[in-house]
Amino acid sequence: MNIETKSSARQPVFVLVGGTGDLAKRMLWPSLAKLEQDGFLAKSQRIISISREKLGPEDFATFVSDAIVARLGKSFDTKALATFIPRLTHLSLDINDAEWGAKLKAELGEIQDLDIVFFLSTSPSLFSPILAHIKKAAMNLAPNRLIVEKPLGHDLPSSVVINDVLADVFDETRLFRIDHYLGKETVQNLLALRFGNTVFEPLWNSRSIDHVQITIAESLGVADRLDYYDNYGALKDMVQNHLLQLVCLVAMEPPAGLSANALRDEKVKVLKSLKTIDASNVVKNTARGQYGAGYADGQSNKGYEFEKGSPSNTETFVAIKAEIANWRWAGTPFYLRTGKCLPSRKTEIVIQFRPVPHSIFGNQIEANRLVIRLQPEEDISLTIMNKSPGLTFEGLQLQPLALSLSLAHAFDEGSKKSPMRRIAYERLILDALHGNNAHFVRRDEVEAAWKWVDGIAEGWKKSYPKPHSYPAGTFGPVNAYTLFDRDSDLSWLD
Ligand code: BG6
Repeated sequence: MNIETKSSARQPVFVLVGGTGDLAKRMLWPSLAKLEQDGFLAKSQRIISISREKLGPEDFATFVSDAIVARLGKSFDTKALATFIPRLTHLSLDINDAEWGAKLKAELGEIQDLDIVFFLSTSPSLFSPILAHIKKAAMNLAPNRLIVEKPLGHDLPSSVVINDVLADVFDETRLFRIDHYLGKETVQNLLALRFGNTVFEPLWNSRSIDHVQITIAESLGVADRLDYYDNYGALKDMVQNHLLQLVCLVAMEPPAGLSANALRDEKVKVLKSLKTIDASNVVKNTARGQYGAGYADGQSNKGYEFEKGSPSNTETFVAIKAEIANWRWAGTPFYLRTGKCLPSRKTEIVIQFRPVPHSIFGNQIEANRLVIRLQPEEDISLTIMNKSPGLTFEGLQLQPLALSLSLAHAFDEGSKKSPMRRIAYERLILDALHGNNAHFVRRDEVEAAWKWVDGIAEGWKKSYPKPHSYPAGTFGPVNAYTLFDRDSDLSWLD
């Protein structure tokens, strides 16, 4: 429990602003329902949904039940709806209504008896008026907390403006900025892998590691999010947040503990150590791509500009050769890649160790490689060199074999309640209900990430204004390959 002022005597209330929106439908209602099913919600937990939609209690219950069943299917025990639905209240409130806060307060009752977590699942442009209502009704006081989602700005100055608005109403210890990657089981497992074992730490540096590759490949295109996406592109949509969070967890120093500040202090040091990429070196260190006509995700795709209906310089693919200028990592590049309409969905981290200093086996030896696969299935494998069994005239023959830890296999066993089948938001909402913001992003992290990303975005404007085209369903533009020093490093094509 990080928030000292939180009192268990208060009744917990979760207020979801934007309760009938897309994120609520796809992720938040199903996550809350899973928490209900698995007994994680306090008996007295209330859940209030707010949006402009005028829905009576029955229609709202149907909307939520449909969303839950559509997302979870058979993995959800519909019996849990019998306890979940009675917790819910939907309020139809217009943001322009000066009485917004008073009406919510009237529904909630005595504020000093409540422990309220607000989740703003709305466009950031609405944060300011919503927070003004919350403040006016004194619902921002401790122990109440606030969860917000990305995008938090589109560059450093705009994120500072949003962060100032948040800081004016909730202090940093009660702010929960979501990066849903931090709620993924395997992303949290990175901490266990690195700091719960002794074998890796002595090797976890540039002396032993040749390079690191972090890839978030998606087979889907931009689909119905074009309006949002065209203003962001892959750099701001994926690198600024999810990819850089993975970089932090791979590269950070051992934290003093698992407290929110201990973890985030170390992460922010990594972000601040990223070597600047700007107009002078952006062409050498990055590749930008946009999918054109091709075949992806099982269907033909006419390309991004066709979907948009007009020309666009927004990138749907980015590859970056990043460097972390500190004692541990100087000389070990971090290759970051993400894109839409690639051949498959795959998120993985590859730690490529250096070759043996001298091979007594000729050129049969491949350097060790630790592959941490996060999606779609969770798997950790370490390739090591082995003698091929049997007799030969040529003497010892070697081959690489993988020591593999299939997490899905170890923990899943087809159970409906498999710990591996959590939606990232389940864990994050649970943490927020309990006041633990260790797996949320602190203000200085967001701003350090924007600062680095802004260098690239500005550099592109001057030196690399148009993305290269790649056919939908392929691995991005050709110049993404030449970022690598050696062809053999292209493990993501495996
Ligand atoms: C979101 C991005 O934050 O993450 C999307 O806005 C992207 O563009 C999504 O598709 C990927 O998340 P996941 O959990 O499916 O890897």
